Amino acid sequence: MKPNLFLFIAVSAVAVLAHAQEAPLNWQPVAPGVWSARIGKPEAVDLLKTAGIQPKVDALNKLGKLAFPTSMKASVARLANGQTHLRLPLREGEQLFGLGLNFKNVLQRKRVFNLHADHYGGRDSGRTHAPVPFYVSSEGYGVLINSARYVTVYAGTGVRKDSAHPPKIKDRNTDRTWEAQPYSDAVEVLIPAAGVEVFLFAGRSAMEAVQRYNLYNGGGALPPKWGLGFTQRVPTKFTADEVRQEADAFEQHGFPLDFIGLEPGWQSRSYPGTFAWDKGRFPDPAGFVKEMLQRGIRLNLWLNPYVSPESPIYDAVKPYTGTHTVWNGLAPDFTLPQVQRAFKTFFAKEHLDLGISGYKIDEIDGYDQWLWPDVASFPSGLSGEQMRQIYGLLVQRQTADWFRARNQRTWGLVRGSNAGASALPYVIYNDYYDHRDFITALCNSSFLGVLWTPEVRASKTAEEWLRRMQSVCFSPLAMLNAWADGTKPWTFPEVEAQVKEVALLRMRLLPYIYTAFAQYHFEGKPPVRAMYLTEGFTASSQQQAGKLDSTANPYATALRQEVKDQFMLGDNLLVAPMFAGDKSRKVILPAGKWYDFYTGKLAGAGEIITVTPGLDQIPLFVRDGGIIPLIPAATRAPKHDDILPVEVRHYGESASRFALYDDDGETFDYERGAFTWTDLMASRDVNGSLQGKVELPQNARAVRYHDFKWVFMTKP
Ligand code: GAL
Repeated sequence: MKPNLFLFIAVSAVAVLAHAQEAPLNWQPVAPGVWSARIGKPEAVDLLKTAGIQPKVDALNKLGKLAFPTSMKASVARLANGQTHLRLPLREGEQLFGLGLNFKNVLQRKRVFNLHADHYGGRDSGRTHAPVPFYVSSEGYGVLINSARYVTVYAGTGVRKDSAHPPKIKDRNTDRTWEAQPYSDAVEVLIPAAGVEVFLFAGRSAMEAVQRYNLYNGGGALPPKWGLGFTQRVPTKFTADEVRQEADAFEQHGFPLDFIGLEPGWQSRSYPGTFAWDKGRFPDPAGFVKEMLQRGIRLNLWLNPYVSPESPIYDAVKPYTGTHTVWNGLAPDFTLPQVQRAFKTFFAKEHLDLGISGYKIDEIDGYDQWLWPDVASFPSGLSGEQMRQIYGLLVQRQTADWFRARNQRTWGLVRGSNAGASALPYVIYNDYYDHRDFITALCNSSFLGVLWTPEVRASKTAEEWLRRMQSVCFSPLAMLNAWADGTKPWTFPEVEAQVKEVALLRMRLLPYIYTAFAQYHFEGKPPVRAMYLTEGFTASSQQQAGKLDSTANPYATALRQEVKDQFMLGDNLLVAPMFAGDKSRKVILPAGKWYDFYTGKLAGAGEIITVTPGLDQIPLFVRDGGIIPLIPAATRAPKHDDILPVEVRHYGESASRFALYDDDGETFDYERGAFTWTDLMASRDVNGSLQGKVELPQNARAVRYHDFKWVFMTKP
């Protein structure tokens, strides 16, 4: 046989074999409405195990059984060259959401992602803080690729020549409906490992699929009440005295403040850090933390986990660290008990015992040129790649466990996360700073079981400052990060009053926001929600023909309309942020009537409206029948023994009901039943006018609200 011919036969045989290996996924039920399939030999380390998820079985049972999504029966997998390929069916008209914490787009069909933990670099490529390999379909199911590898997802881009649903072939010369990206009938996934576990979450809607995903991951994190108050991060080299003065200034200005974040300079050395207090700047850490707690202000400590040779734990962790350093610090292998013990012992003694309330876990995402390279390895046997994908989860889980062991809730910041994080008490932030993109990230976080804050740092103008402050007050973490600039909420005196007003409005809304988080925890509904997860929202994701030009759009790619600059906070409140320079904006109102939050007046019904709100306000709308409980404005979040009066606002015309959640706001006793749901009900009396009624729960004595005053905002 001629060598070429031999080669040809050999190659063909391998090719046939590779095709032959393509096999249907063997889906097995794992919880009501949740299935998993194992392909090849899944790796020992994966995302959900790393996150330590504990499925909320009761809540999943309550959501109920659902039939297996028929279309997904056609899913296939193939093992080849030490890699796993998946092909998951995609129907025409289906839209996809998720696939990493993206900042530019919310509609992900027809895009490609290489999901890779990194600092977001300005492009939705998959390189981001939470490269969660999870997508949700508008048809009401979600797919999770439970792999700690750099997973590539072709979200409806590839077209197979043997496709059962081939796209029509069109001629660009003559056919105006020609598309640069023809229809593709599949999501294709490349996992660089010889096996993987995949999960399928069913739902009657995209929201229900997200709920199942979050509940399977243990339900969303319930913050301590103080975590929802305002937080200020002070300049990196502030001393204890300067922090005291900062707290004084907040009091003088009457601004809310629940916790202060200390940046790298609280440590005796930083980059790499020691995790030990700098005794020059903080001569008496214990006394200082205690004094701040007595003032009702908690402290959060910045860290990145890279260990300085001068750290007291250096010797203990050294044998259990990766081959490469980061900023000359050791990169601990947090999968190893030796590392976990060394950190826990030291951090407990030096921070938690003193009363530190939480951490900001920085720089565990990238940037590439700073982090260990992929050629690095770790003593547990994990590769640089795997460790990079899970590092954020590892540090979040470990620190969260320290607080849980004390029956104390924490609320902190993290720059890297991944799938399985729903129950972890951390909010993602970054160094990128585009206000619009920050709002898009808020929308996207809702598909992925992660939380995001559009933190405020500095601004060029008073207008931008106010607009950013207005947005951040409707996010999971109302934060000013002044680590570099020393900005204060009143940095622009010309808008101080408006900034204060919105910060105090957030404080008034805490019972409502806290209830939204309780829904996250008990029902899996994210507190901040993209419009696409909202009932009655039908914005078409239709494409518009793109105009052919030789620079920006050389293939006449179709343009898509995406709704990514407005979102829901909880069930009833629609938030439509304003951006500097804009005098008006369009707001898409879902089906039914919607009312202006401030005036109670009808704003529109299932339509697109244009609003011109002026500088003072961020546009907020409430659905018909929406009930919003408010407490009196205060500079601190409610404490466990506060009993507060409630103003119950009702909007619109419909009779309705709102279940108001409450608990001690500090401990995990809610997991053992120590919580209350109070029923706020608006109904029409015999004369047809609206009346409010409050139905206290059986354990009424535990309710921390009293004196309910109904305000019907919409005048008949
Ligand atoms: C950055 C972080 C900032 C700030 C700074 C301190 O990586 O994103 O928020 O904490 O480090 O060095």
